[in-house]
Amino acid sequence: MTVAVRSFAKINLGLYIGAARADGYHDLRTVYQTIALHDVIRVSVGRGSGIAILCKDPRVPLDSSNTCYRMVVRVLDELGAKGRVSIEIEKRLPVRGGLGAASSNAVATMVALELALRKRLSGTARLRIAAEVGSDLPLFLVGGTALGVGRGEEVYPLADLPSLPTVVVMPEVGVSTPQAFADWDALTASGAELRSAGRTNASAPTRAVAGREQLTRPLASDRLFEVGCALSAWLSGSPNTGAPAKGGSRAGSLLLDLVRTGIENDFERVVFPQYPELRDIKGALERAGSRYASLSGSGSTLYGLFRTQAEAAKAGSRLRKQGLKAVATRTLTCQQYWKRILD
Ligand code: C5P
Repeated sequence: MTVAVRSFAKINLGLYIGAARADGYHDLRTVYQTIALHDVIRVSVGRGSGIAILCKDPRVPLDSSNTCYRMVVRVLDELGAKGRVSIEIEKRLPVRGGLGAASSNAVATMVALELALRKRLSGTARLRIAAEVGSDLPLFLVGGTALGVGRGEEVYPLADLPSLPTVVVMPEVGVSTPQAFADWDALTASGAELRSAGRTNASAPTRAVAGREQLTRPLASDRLFEVGCALSAWLSGSPNTGAPAKGGSRAGSLLLDLVRTGIENDFERVVFPQYPELRDIKGALERAGSRYASLSGSGSTLYGLFRTQAEAAKAGSRLRKQGLKAVATRTLTCQQYWKRILD
């Protein structure tokens, strides 16, 4: 039996990088949002043993470094199952594009393998195994809108934002995430960049809330705390900008409220100077009418959020005329994500 699963992409609605940790990772805060663009993963289990990966895209590794391969090893082990597992990856999403494709592919493999084996992992085991394979995997076990903390692997589902028209631009260039984190460390070594980022200052809430002016926590964690405050205020309906945006219900204004908190993706500060064309694409998305445009993850993909599907479609064709690989799509709510994953 072959089980086919859609492997959806994600974008990041804001991404804040904290201090490098002893384990080499960075603490971060981000809001993940799944979108309708996807790869397709087909898994089959036969007699024997071994793992075979099939993919026509030469950029995808077919050996044990592939996230899908690493996932199969762990799932078989956890379930005490045996068999020869074949995974076919139908690649539509960019490789090293900041859309979480390799992570999503691995989670789709997990979902498909459980179905093919007719065995189930517990919810906790799924999340633990996903986090072992990579920081961006667990979000794909939640779907919709999710808060990511820790190194990004600790995810909490958020109230779904209504499905939003989105334009995704996928430049040819691939960005190395570990390198982008290293570049961020170099940039922030002096702390000057964090101060100029306007996220940490003398009146940072950490100190005000603690009520101890003399308490000096590391700059980076101060900043993450402040971001957490802004996100919490957004979720509880009292963003920095005061009352929720006018017009429509609370649900209808959620995104506008989030954008008004001034969300940023820290990776833009290190990736744009190296790839100026990506900054230009963000400008092009803004000029094409997006309500909010940003790099996704460490890039190179950029996205823009639009008010209507017609505006997104028009912007998509305008950007394609400029020679960009632009696609109009939508964000996926949690319900849509799980409904469509097996359709
Ligand atoms: O977890 P994942 O395998 O996706 O991470 C790839 C690399 O990205 C890590 O080895 C690390 O260098 C970097 N990383 C990081 N901080 C994070 C996530 C990833 O430094 N929160």
